[in-house]
Amino acid sequence: MTEPGAEPTAENAAEAGTAATAGADVVAGTQRAYTRIARRYAQRWSSASNPWIEAAADRFTAPLPAGALVADVGCGPGNDTLRLRERGLRVHGFDLSHAMLTARDVPGQVRADLRALPLADAALDGLWCVAVLLHIPRKAVPAALAEFHRVLRPGGHALITIAEGDGEGWEPYAHPSGADEAVERYFVYHAREAFAGLLAAAGFEILWTGCATTHRTWLSLHLRRIRGVH
Ligand SMILES: C[S@@+](CC[C@H](N)C(=O)[O-])C[C@H]1O[C@@H](n2cnc3c(N)ncnc32)[C@H](O)[C@@H]1O
Repeated sequence: MTEPGAEPTAENAAEAGTAATAGADVVAGTQRAYTRIARRYAQRWSSASNPWIEAAADRFTAPLPAGALVADVGCGPGNDTLRLRERGLRVHGFDLSHAMLTARDVPGQVRADLRALPLADAALDGLWCVAVLLHIPRKAVPAALAEFHRVLRPGGHALITIAEGDGEGWEPYAHPSGADEAVERYFVYHAREAFAGLLAAAGFEILWTGCATTHRTWLSLHLRRIRGVH
């Protein structure tokens, strides 16, 4: 299904003989969906109790000094930005969607693409990226991980949550009030071993892996940046 006026989806791009699943069209199509669902998304998740995210935040925060500089990459409305600030971290949020960034108006957020973050090399003590790489086409994930490695200082920590599974494709936005078939986001699922291989290649050591199941199976990985790859 294609939104009215939308750029090519994976399906119609394939018909056109282009490789949209590897690039910008997929990300842009998903961003158009977030423009439409931002308020509903923010309302749904800002008050939701999320014990596994709280536990991941505790784990991520523990090795970082008070006031450590952290990026919440793909921060959306900023729920986790606030969660991490409550734990004493200095957190800036980055997200591609203006609508998501303004849904709660959390201060200290910047519109940016995670594939080219507006940060100097080794600028960060920590990087938090929850439920975001699931929108990045599989072929683009190694470059995204290389970007995360670039902006983290040696020994810096990352917490990444991905959707575990197989395949990738467009899915309708599902809300408790009923699925909105007109709004589709592109989802990419990763097998645990394959994703571990990508992390190792990008220069990350896995410190801990956790799994939580809601409407998806979430794989959270606590990582340390171990060496230069550039
Ligand atoms: C499922 S939401 C997660 C938001 C937030 N991390 C949370 O857990 O509530 C995915 C977010 O990723 C953002 N996103 C998707 N692709 C992105 C990209 N290339 N660069 C930056 N943000 C992106 C979307 O705009 C959206 O806000």
